Amino acid sequence: MNSLKDLFHPRGIAVVGASKDPTKIGHIILKNIVEYGYKGGIYPVNPTVSEVMGLKSYPAVSTISDKVDVVVVSVPNVKVLDVIDDAGKAGVKHAVVIASGFKEVGNIELENELVRRARRYGMRVLGPNIFGYVYTPERLNATFGPRDVIPGNVAFITQSGALGIALMGSTILEGIGISAIVSVGNKSDIDDADLLEFFDEDPNTSVVLIYMEGVSDGKRFVNVASKISMRKPVVVIKSGRTEAGARAAASHTGSLAGNVLLYETAFKQGGVLSAKSVEEAFDFVKTLSWNPLPHGERVVVITNGGGAGVQASDTLADDGIHLEKPPQDFVEEVKKIVPPFASLANPVDLTGMAPEDWYYRSVKLAVQNPEIDAVLILYCHTALTSPVGVAKAVSKAIEEAGVSKPVSVAIIGGMEAYEAIRYLTSIRIPAYPTPERAAHALAAQLKYRRYREYLMKKEHLINKSS
Ligand code: COA
Repeated sequence: MNSLKDLFHPRGIAVVGASKDPTKIGHIILKNIVEYGYKGGIYPVNPTVSEVMGLKSYPAVSTISDKVDVVVVSVPNVKVLDVIDDAGKAGVKHAVVIASGFKEVGNIELENELVRRARRYGMRVLGPNIFGYVYTPERLNATFGPRDVIPGNVAFITQSGALGIALMGSTILEGIGISAIVSVGNKSDIDDADLLEFFDEDPNTSVVLIYMEGVSDGKRFVNVASKISMRKPVVVIKSGRTEAGARAAASHTGSLAGNVLLYETAFKQGGVLSAKSVEEAFDFVKTLSWNPLPHGERVVVITNGGGAGVQASDTLADDGIHLEKPPQDFVEEVKKIVPPFASLANPVDLTGMAPEDWYYRSVKLAVQNPEIDAVLILYCHTALTSPVGVAKAVSKAIEEAGVSKPVSVAIIGGMEAYEAIRYLTSIRIPAYPTPERAAHALAAQLKYRRYREYLMKKEHLINKSS
């Protein structure tokens, strides 16, 4: 059994420092746990009050007679060790330590003692210096971040607190469905590799996104990452790439950001997709979590604008994806739709006069064609068509094609284009405001496919020789 199972599927959860004061972090965490709908036992712990939010308050974790698997610790750093002793003696398995004031400010001995004490009781520590964690399959939101996270299949591990909380909000805005959000902070005990092992086995997670400042055991991370990457893609935003960034990371979570080249090589070995920015990472997550895995690399680009097609072709080429001539039977069918001056090489240019119906018919043909592995659809807003109309035509074509295939859509234009993107993302079709972003996100899926094949072959060879 995975050692983190009880963290994500606890029978009961205690919040130490659950205050009646709505501005205090302990209060907000308790409120989120209650209001997001967690169904296990919820136990506020605060010796100065008898109830919080209508729930009985306990003077100490050890006074709770029901089973408690997780204790969220929201009291100042100097009080944390006593709470660990009390909860440890009571048999609690996981301590989620919110408090700051440990390694990140030079209190290394306090942090080491925290882990030593927890180990004495067989307890694992998440944090310290974190905003908590979310696990949507259990309707558990034990954070002081936004409450209404959208349930889905993406697990998000973040070393940054405030940025992590903000990104939690961004996932809602971007329509990205979440299985888990885990704030790891100083990673005194539970780290990225432990969490990857859990998410590898977790049927509710199919993509993992990590915001990382540094790892202490790089070898183990690569080892675990290369195992999960055979089944599920892992995207990492590695911050502290520059000297200035590395300095900032050291004072933020006490991390050694390390040599950028070293990390890039390690990520490749582990089959990890590296993203330079939050925007790029979210773009990748959309194609990776909403599309099926591509069977090959034969991409067809459908566009109504030559320029958009050129930009997408360049981006794909930069990512190592080279466009080939589309299959002849597909070309013959599209010829029946478009005017004779349309260019039917790859990109397939439907011309600037293309109405919604041409998109519908050509996209459906492309998705249905067995010689095409992925379809990149580009639309430049013209006065002849409405972006939402084209988006609806594209979604109808994908739905009616009867085949599931990776797609990526760029809707380029103003406010109406933005609405069309919102419409497509609401039905889990990856859509972006530029041809470059749509192409790059699709290329990430193809890159992941290559990594996965490489790792699987490597494993096969190792198994054969042993
Ligand atoms: N057991 C249970 N409750 C206790 C306690 C104990 N041993 N000791 C104190 N409490 C109670 C307090 O009385 C208080 O309740 P009250 O409001 O009813 O009096 C409550 O726990 C909280 O304690 P308080 O001293 O008021 O702390 P706080 O809420 O102001 O701050 C932290 C606690 C952990 C939030 C703060 O110390 C901290 O570290 N903040 C930074 C957190 C952060 O940024 N983390 C990283 C995120 S990205």
